[in-house]
Amino acid sequence: MPDPNVLLIGCGGIGGVHLERWTKCPGARVLAVCDTDAAAAQRAADQVGAAAFTDLAEALKTPGLTVADICTPPVGHTDAALAAIGAGLHVLCEKPLARTPHEAQQIYHAAAAAQRLLMTAFCHRFEPGIAYAKALLEEGKLGSLVMIRNRFSGLFAGVENRWFSKKAVAGGGTLLDTAIHSIDIYRFLAGEVVSVSGRVTTHIPGIDVEDTAIVLLQAESGALGVIEASWATPGGRNIVEIYGTAGACFVDYNDGSLTVHDAATGATETVDPGSGDRFQAEVNHFAECVRTGTPPAVTGHDGLRAVEIAAEVYAQNGL
Ligand SMILES: NC(=O)c1ccc[n+]([C@@H]2O[C@H](COP(=O)([O-])OP(=O)(O)OC[C@H]3O[C@@H](n4cnc5c(N)ncnc54)[C@H](O)[C@@H]3O)[C@@H](O)[C@H]2O)c1
Repeated sequence: MPDPNVLLIGCGGIGGVHLERWTKCPGARVLAVCDTDAAAAQRAADQVGAAAFTDLAEALKTPGLTVADICTPPVGHTDAALAAIGAGLHVLCEKPLARTPHEAQQIYHAAAAAQRLLMTAFCHRFEPGIAYAKALLEEGKLGSLVMIRNRFSGLFAGVENRWFSKKAVAGGGTLLDTAIHSIDIYRFLAGEVVSVSGRVTTHIPGIDVEDTAIVLLQAESGALGVIEASWATPGGRNIVEIYGTAGACFVDYNDGSLTVHDAATGATETVDPGSGDRFQAEVNHFAECVRTGTPPAVTGHDGLRAVEIAAEVYAQNGL
């Protein structure tokens, strides 16, 4: 199977994070980068000795490419993914997979038809604390899952001047940008979602998307989920709380701690889940999938389902 020879599409914030991780991924090479901003493309290219492009069709002609890593704003995901798949590349695509279920389905079906690997970059699946919680659930150490509560929140200063607050570019606000991670974390830990309801509101002046969302979920198992996401709550916390009949597990992103409560002993202990950078683990995993032809642990279908669930909440809010 091929080596991961990468075309990075979109060289902004998260593109820079991925680029640096690809340089540390054994056996991987970034051959080309593409950004509509020529200076951004050149900066990224210089960093890794790759070729710089502003035109995707030209970038895709780079000999030897096997992987496209899509890090543009959501409005660009579908065209970039379809072009990359059409050129025979495996695709790692940032979240949300697309702005709408229709767009996400196009990407998902194109990858399936072309038998190309498609991974949605839900990086939290590679967060050591989340992986530890998943293992606790699988080993039955928390008993039967009762509920998950996940809050990702804070103040997104200056969002009114970024693409994140433009519906045509982003597809939505904090629900599609931030809570989409939580929806995937919930599906990863609790299983498929069978019921969803939610409310969204906007507090930041001058933006045309929601900045706050609360989502209630239920899984096939009956386990409940509460997701709270906001860009408008200074001091807001970032935490995943997992409650089972035999114990609880708290993954606190603010202080990096992992705490486990055991109902049998009554003890609550801080646990070391092991070190590890979720973005490095994500890139390394996809590289290994490309090398071995193995389907990724987090798939295009996972990306599609998360967008579908968010869309259901938008519809409930008349959006
Ligand atoms: N997984 C995470 O934790 C995480 C974190 C941040 C962003 N993201 C996601 O990554 C994506 C990018 O976000 P960002 O924060 O890096 O945005 P950004 O604005 O910092 O960077 C986006 C880059 O893409 C370029 N671009 C725009 N349209 C393009 C196109 N059609 N072709 C090529 N380049 C294009 C822009 O010029 C810019 O350099 C979004 O989907 C976002 O939701 C994920």
